[in-house]
Amino acid sequence: MKALITGGAGFIGRWLVKKLLDENFEVWVLDNLENGLESNLEEFHNHPLLKGVVYEDILNEKALHSVFACKPDIVYHLAAQINVHESLENPCKAYEINIKGTYNVLEECRAIGAKVMLMGTCMVYDMAESHKAIDENHPLKPTSPYAGSKLSAEILAESYYHSYGLPVVTCRPFNTYGPYQKYNLEGGVVSIFVRQVLNGDDLTIFGDGTQTRDLLYVEDCVDFLYTASRSEKALGQVINAGSGTDIAVLDLAKMICPDASKIRFAEHRHPQSEIPKLLCDYSKARSLLGWEPKVDLSTGIEKLKAQLLETCALA
Ligand SMILES: NC(=O)c1ccc[n+]([C@@H]2O[C@H](COP(=O)([O-])OP(=O)(O)OC[C@H]3O[C@@H](n4cnc5c(N)ncnc54)[C@H](O)[C@@H]3O)[C@@H](O)[C@H]2O)c1
Repeated sequence: MKALITGGAGFIGRWLVKKLLDENFEVWVLDNLENGLESNLEEFHNHPLLKGVVYEDILNEKALHSVFACKPDIVYHLAAQINVHESLENPCKAYEINIKGTYNVLEECRAIGAKVMLMGTCMVYDMAESHKAIDENHPLKPTSPYAGSKLSAEILAESYYHSYGLPVVTCRPFNTYGPYQKYNLEGGVVSIFVRQVLNGDDLTIFGDGTQTRDLLYVEDCVDFLYTASRSEKALGQVINAGSGTDIAVLDLAKMICPDASKIRFAEHRHPQSEIPKLLCDYSKARSLLGWEPKVDLSTGIEKLKAQLLETCALA
């Protein structure tokens, strides 16, 4: 099998490259390094199945077309503008990368009949009500251009499934964390807190800390993507993946940093984009794919700490 990963030099992309190489796929990566790092792929450079790494933009149609000359059987489309705050300040960028960029990828896939694994996000949902977790039928409420553009990309891909019979699967992982995640984005709350603690810094919480997250360890996330990509039953489906438990951001901070005097609160820059309760119902992934998360939060945090200490990726 030949796979192309857009956004393959990013956080989740790096782990997906590893997974697919381990599964004996031939792998190509396309990434413009807007938020990815060449170093994320360093350990795979001499891998015989890593066939091509191209640092180009999905908006560059010519470059995209050249990469598709490898004729992938499957395309994992992860490249995206992922920063909620940036999307509120520059909605055009979210539109261009997440919608126009996805359109470009879909057109290339349509030309060769490649399967599309579309990376959605839990940020398209309205908040969970008390203990009722969010399943795929939960009301939608995109509260930022990031969420709106990701949802638009999903709908566009769904239209390719219905109108052209293009094999499309839409995956909606909840907040994903783990080694190689950057520390400057709100999506990386676990990574930010762990790094602050290891550096001896104070932990900063935006808002009052009652907002909850359903935190998915990155290897569970790519296992979900991989499993969904191998299943006929997943075609044309939207599927959630999460841990099935949520934790308030304040409790997460206390778990990572037992010294409460180091926890500080700051005003939320864009409170309207906050989803107060995120809790995933992954029963569809379980029944359709037999997928379940394997790594609990404290184990995931230990793995992240170990990687940070090993690579001295602090300060
Ligand atoms: N991290 C999470 O919690 C999470 C949760 C749900 C869904 N997602 C989705 O997963 C995907 C990957 O997210 P991530 O957390 O690994 O983020 P990331 O920023 O690390 O990865 C995205 C990659 O896409 C690349 N990219 C951005 N614009 C591009 C363009 N125009 N052309 C080519 N490459 C481009 C970036 O350089 C980066 O390497 C995204 O689609 C995101 O919306 C992430």
